[in-house]
Amino acid sequence: MKVWTRDLQTLFPHIRGSTPRPNIHAAAHIYDFLLLFGPVLSWWYFPFEHLIGVLQKINTNDHTGGEMEATIMKTMACTANIHCWLRHPDCPDAIHVLKDLFDKCFVPVSRPDALNEFVERKGTHRAYVAHDGDNLSPFKTHPGNSTIIYRPLPSKPPVAGQIQSIENLHNHDGQNTGICLHVHRHNLLSKALYDPFLQFPHFNAKTYSTTLRAAEDIIGLDDIVAHAAQYNYSHGRSVMVSLSRQ
Ligand SMILES: *[C@@H]1O[C@H](CO)[C@@H](O)[C@H](O)[C@H]1NC(C)=O
Ligand SMILES: *[C@@H]1O[C@H](CO)[C@@H](O)[C@H](O)[C@H]1NC(C)=O
Repeated sequence: MKVWTRDLQTLFPHIRGSTPRPNIHAAAHIYDFLLLFGPVLSWWYFPFEHLIGVLQKINTNDHTGGEMEATIMKTMACTANIHCWLRHPDCPDAIHVLKDLFDKCFVPVSRPDALNEFVERKGTHRAYVAHDGDNLSPFKTHPGNSTIIYRPLPSKPPVAGQIQSIENLHNHDGQNTGICLHVHRHNLLSKALYDPFLQFPHFNAKTYSTTLRAAEDIIGLDDIVAHAAQYNYSHGRSVMVSLSRQ
């Protein structure tokens, strides 16, 4: 190591001589560091550089001034201490039990699965779902994208309804296995009211009552026939025009 430090000046005459720079100095201590900290892999700079990258990407909404930075630092230090403690042979069993409970309560939105592959985890509900080139949303999120024509049962004729919520389905491992939609069906038009669109069979429009059934239909994406546009006109009537491209 000493020979290398000495010859460095000869090989690279442009470098500043006399006082060794910190990197060169640190290199002389690699032996001690190996004894102190173990394999280089766990303390070389890649993890730190990675961490800097993570920190730089945190959205701070342009807040500076130290408070948020301090919170981030303290949280990271706490996390590191807990990690360290959990791996310590003296760590009490109760702490391990608490960790298991904590992991069950707070499933991270994204976490590596058993294969260490990064799998996206979803929350319980969604703000929208893409279907057949359309974006469908619950009524509360976006009324214009919440009306659909769907089959409540595979054998039944299609009806119009309003999406109330879109639920992510998970298996017991917390993996996303699909989605289901909670829909309130539009009541059929009362016999006393007239559907002026009946006489235009080639125009994909039908009148329903503006009111919704209280009972909920729970359907899958496959049960959706089309996204529909809704227009409320007189006497609590709503015409639904299918927006299907076929
Ligand atoms: C509503 O649907 C249209 C067409 O699918 C889409 O372009 C738009 O982004 C959607 N709006 C919302 C808020 O999801
Ligand atoms: C139709 O009327 C219902 C009930 O009043 C209302 O919730 C809905 O937003 C209306 N839809 C349109 C497209 O005006």
